[in-house]
Amino acid sequence: MCGIVGYIGKKEAYPILMGGLSRLEYRGYDSAGVALGGRKDIRLYKRQGKVADLASFAEGKDISGTIGIGHTRWATHGEPSDRNSHPHLSQCGTVAVVHNGIIENYRELREDLGRHGYRFVSDTDTEAVAHLIEHICERTGTTFPEAVRLALREVVGAYAIVAISTGDPDTVVVARKGSPLVVGIGDGEFFIASDATAVAEHTRRVVYLEEGEMAVLRRNEEFYVSSINGHDERYPIVMEIEAELEAIGKNGFAHFMEKEIFEQPETILDSMRGRLDPETGEVRLNGIADHIDRLAEAERIIFVACGTSFYAAILGEYLIERYAGIPVEVDYASEFRYRRPLIRKKDFVFAVSQSGETADTLAAIRLAKEAGATVLGICNVVGSSIARETAAGIYTHAGPEIGVASTKAFTAQVTVLSLITLALAKRRKMLSDEELIRLGKELFAIPEKVKRALTKQNECREIAVEISRSSDAFYLGRGVCYPVALEGALKLKEISYVHAEAYPAGEMKHGPIALIEDGTPVIAVAPDGEIRDKIVGSIQEMKARKARVIAIVTEGDMATAALADRFVEVPVADEFVVALLAVIPLQLIAYYTAVTLGHDVDRPRNLAKSVTVE
Ligand code: G6P
Repeated sequence: MCGIVGYIGKKEAYPILMGGLSRLEYRGYDSAGVALGGRKDIRLYKRQGKVADLASFAEGKDISGTIGIGHTRWATHGEPSDRNSHPHLSQCGTVAVVHNGIIENYRELREDLGRHGYRFVSDTDTEAVAHLIEHICERTGTTFPEAVRLALREVVGAYAIVAISTGDPDTVVVARKGSPLVVGIGDGEFFIASDATAVAEHTRRVVYLEEGEMAVLRRNEEFYVSSINGHDERYPIVMEIEAELEAIGKNGFAHFMEKEIFEQPETILDSMRGRLDPETGEVRLNGIADHIDRLAEAERIIFVACGTSFYAAILGEYLIERYAGIPVEVDYASEFRYRRPLIRKKDFVFAVSQSGETADTLAAIRLAKEAGATVLGICNVVGSSIARETAAGIYTHAGPEIGVASTKAFTAQVTVLSLITLALAKRRKMLSDEELIRLGKELFAIPEKVKRALTKQNECREIAVEISRSSDAFYLGRGVCYPVALEGALKLKEISYVHAEAYPAGEMKHGPIALIEDGTPVIAVAPDGEIRDKIVGSIQEMKARKARVIAIVTEGDMATAALADRFVEVPVADEFVVALLAVIPLQLIAYYTAVTLGHDVDRPRNLAKSVTVE
């Protein structure tokens, strides 16, 4: 998500911070800011827009100083704006904080601080942390680093945090829990960044903070690392970074798409963070809290979306109809807007969109609004047009997706749709409490299982080499695995330019089977579940026509694997969540096919990340 930088040493901090922010801009680019420390006050410059806009804004202002922190934002709480930009100052201006991540209990923190007279000028979760550190310093008289430690013990959620204070102007305090932070060690100076890209031009010697650790960096070159919860110090282990700067920007991955595929264990967790209690199966969707009861009584839900988001919506249809018992329709936004759909006032229309800027989807929601339906959104980009134009919505929190072919945004959308399903099923009493808990646990276990599914790189690479030699490929699925097949075929088309078609397996015999020849690749998405036996029948039909069948099967299902020419295993999971696993090998196969063919994976021909025209 957001990019963080910091500096303390003998040089002027501002140019170092700005250089770092430019390198990190791919992590978020809706606003940027820097805070320069000092004994008297902290000078703060922040601006909505790009790092270049911040540079113009700060021109001619006092940018001197040898200690500072900076941030480039990808909004999560609060729309992109000057006041929501980081750094955030505490009420009396004694503490400045930059933060990457999500603070789950920020409402409680805000209320509590409000009772102590703290006023908030932003909508962010981060401002609460700045106030809290100041409050603890004032209330207890403790040192600045200690106040940060105490404050973070009250914080629930994920963060990488960097803080400075006027009370201790020769110190930077950094901490991480769930979001990466690296400290670069220079000559009598420290560089801080959310990834090594922003440090590497200054020093190759870095210390990576571990989960739950904080570090105190002083101008006199002292450097202490300890756990946030205890006081046990550890000796910082200095590592040498060797990778090329460009490569580090992708965290060592060759392409953003590859990086985003491998980020999915974390991004799926981020999508459900603070929303699902696996012990009780309870789902809290604050974004649509005012609508959820009426939604549960809806006569019909209509999804409108494009591209990958459309396939996520089809999955939503399968889940909501089956588990929550509400009729669902899914429409291409581009069709919906012109086919004069019958929209009733009692309908709920959900727009699903990664970017929140897709022109067709926007037009569809405007039409639905005019017809009097309640329009809700599922978006990844906070503050986007769709997020603003819908009555309410749920953010998917997958972080910025840079690869044009969507991967982590898809799994985040499916995660959110699964949460909506559970919330509706509970309200409609469609599932028993035991069943809700069981399915909640299944969803909660997905990030770890995705990690395991991601270990099948070699199998996927070998399959990709085969597919790269073909001009066509077919993807088959049934039930929840049909939209997975659609998404797998779309990925292959988008980046490898191999012609791919997806069908519900049962439909093949009604025409498309005529296209199967000796060696035609057919990817059958066949994990364990109610309809697995049906797809096994289709695999046999394909084999009888000499197709080269690649099966996605559940670990240990050797009977299905044996029918195929090649197979990739995914961990055992309930049908409710299995799509989140089955799609992983399909993403990898598409990625490796494009790499094998030498295509520009992150910038595929003719496509755009966000299609803002009709
Ligand atoms: C473009 C992108 C696709 C994306 C689609 C919908 O076509 O190339 O990857 O799925 O738009 O985008 P949205 O941002 O609305 O999800």
